[in-house]
Amino acid sequence: MSKRYTITAALPYTNGPIHIGHLAGVYVPADIYSRYLRLTGNDVAFICGSDEHGVPITIKAKKEGVTPQDIVDKYHAIIKTSFEDFGISFDNYSRTSAKIHHDTASEFFKTLYEKNEFVEEVSEQLYDAEANQFLADRFVIGTCPKCGYEEAYGDQCENCGTSHNATDLINPKSAITGNTPTLKETKHWFLPLNKHEEFLTEWILNGHKKDWKPNVYGQVKSWIDDGLRPRAVTRDLDWGIPVPIEGGEGKVLYVWFDAPIGYISATKEWAEREGKNWEDYWKDEDTTLVHFIGKDNIVFHCIIFPSMLKAEGSYILPENVPANEFLNLEGNKLSTSKNWAVWLPDYLQDFPNQQDVLRYALTANAPETKDNDFTWKDFQARNNNELVAIFGNFINRVAVLTNKYYNGVIPESSGFKAIDEDTLAAVKAYPAVISSSIERYRFREASQELMNLARLGNKYLADEEPWKTIKTDEERTKTVMFVALQIASALAVLSEPILPFTSEKLKTILCHSELESESTWNDVSTKDILLPSGHQLQEGKPELLFTKIEDKQIEAQLEKLEASKKANEAANKATEPQKDEITFEDFTKLDLRVGTILEAEKMPKTKKLLVLKVDTGIDTRTIVSGIAESFKPEEVVGKRVTVLVNLAPRKLRGVESQGMILMTEDASGNLVFVNPDDSSGVGNGLQIS
Ligand code: 2FM
Ligand code: ZN
Repeated sequence: MSKRYTITAALPYTNGPIHIGHLAGVYVPADIYSRYLRLTGNDVAFICGSDEHGVPITIKAKKEGVTPQDIVDKYHAIIKTSFEDFGISFDNYSRTSAKIHHDTASEFFKTLYEKNEFVEEVSEQLYDAEANQFLADRFVIGTCPKCGYEEAYGDQCENCGTSHNATDLINPKSAITGNTPTLKETKHWFLPLNKHEEFLTEWILNGHKKDWKPNVYGQVKSWIDDGLRPRAVTRDLDWGIPVPIEGGEGKVLYVWFDAPIGYISATKEWAEREGKNWEDYWKDEDTTLVHFIGKDNIVFHCIIFPSMLKAEGSYILPENVPANEFLNLEGNKLSTSKNWAVWLPDYLQDFPNQQDVLRYALTANAPETKDNDFTWKDFQARNNNELVAIFGNFINRVAVLTNKYYNGVIPESSGFKAIDEDTLAAVKAYPAVISSSIERYRFREASQELMNLARLGNKYLADEEPWKTIKTDEERTKTVMFVALQIASALAVLSEPILPFTSEKLKTILCHSELESESTWNDVSTKDILLPSGHQLQEGKPELLFTKIEDKQIEAQLEKLEASKKANEAANKATEPQKDEITFEDFTKLDLRVGTILEAEKMPKTKKLLVLKVDTGIDTRTIVSGIAESFKPEEVVGKRVTVLVNLAPRKLRGVESQGMILMTEDASGNLVFVNPDDSSGVGNGLQIS
């Protein structure tokens, strides 16, 4: 039965191109799902667009010395084109700088304001006096109050996913100047999430959301169990949607307030263009709303946006939020700033017409239940050993033999044997099997089932050997080729969601458009014959669906990554300029001693801190040092080290640190113990750890 679906894919920040992490986490699964729903006869609005507000864009603009508008115009065009070229089948790809979005988000805010759904409050917020700027979101970095991660942003910790207020950060530092912020009063509007706790508990925890992915359900449950607090939905920034009420002058909406409303405005824009009613897609209880996102977006889509929609009152809520985990690259975390990524525009250029290879490799290895690693070797193996050797090989054999034996015309079958009946019955089972995987958001499984169908075809040919029977039994050969062609046709239909370009090519080879009616997903399980006898295939030598990827292509990609790593290390290595002059008296105040590290252990729940016992010659004391990412505790025991002994003691995570140890960095930026005989750290500043 046909149903209506609104499928959203997270709006990407418009401060850089799309990379494989975005594709694997969000856009490929969302596209597979949307294509599948359309193919099975549903009414689908697949919605996305550029997220053009927020601090990341301002930071990028500052860095490049251009305006935020320049940045979003540049990347919106790059992102939109690359999605199209990669076959992501959005019904609308909009942008949050569009007038329709500003109007929709402003109206939404005003409605909540008029319904008294906000708490208006003057409070002290972090402020950078030197930059003359309030520090919200990514303008401030500090230690996460929940997990101790030391590079959490003002609104969210990317390590544990918690969303918090900037003032909750421990040891906050301005991302603009590095200064410790001061506090300054300012007025903001807060969404009282605490008021929605009961509804969220009822809807998610007591409701039917137990079928959400365990990673999503678990995170949401833990946040609700911890208790929710009001969240500011306005900011003192100059880039964003102006706060549309009296008293809001000079302030803008928080990017995470306006961005999800972008799904609604993009639907409106699409509906206007297509002559549809957008409200059917957002306000009709019969519509199923699904948000595809990465795991760092869970809190916004499962707690904050639903609370906004509920507070507004006339919207439906998501049926599911199948968030994925993260994809790493060659063993390291993907990083835009470190250029450790495979960028989509680069891929499209380096592997022309091979979109489906990446779609397949990312789907077969999707980070659905845990973080996964993308390696170029795996990419090559998925192509050469699966797409070429199994899928492509089967289709090529069928097309070549049909041309050779029957001039490309589907032969008559005469009398099925048990193996033919069994094979055709097995083919008919595939739509339900693949549907079940896709409907449960198990796209890896779906990709493997699709490959199993191609395997079935190969096995059938290998068992029945038409290239041998052609010499002895022409009638049998016709039947075998007839059956094999039905499998090829099923592959053409069922591969569409995951491998749309391949499906298109295969349909062209099989001349699907010349059939009386083109086969649908359900036809594969209900019809006895997909390609009738007498149907003519495309004339001429069939195009190869996939081609082998050579070692040198993979080596070139690995070299590219290595070069980017080196360039990044070199940029970081740039010797820091000398600090301001100090007097001799200043210097003599420092009491530096050579000490020996006697004991070392990790500070629980931190990544960077070691608790050391150091013999300074005067005494044995405790020093908490931020070197845990460079050394294991057992590696530092027994090391001699310079110690600043008269630094005022400081408590770190409840442990009093009575001094500092001095280290330096080697050429690659690794921390090393100061060794004057070793020239690798020349010019590098001493690291006070
Ligand atoms: O994390 C991100 O890249 C955000 N720009 C996602 C926004 S999703 C939505 F709500 F718009
Ligand atoms: Zn955290």
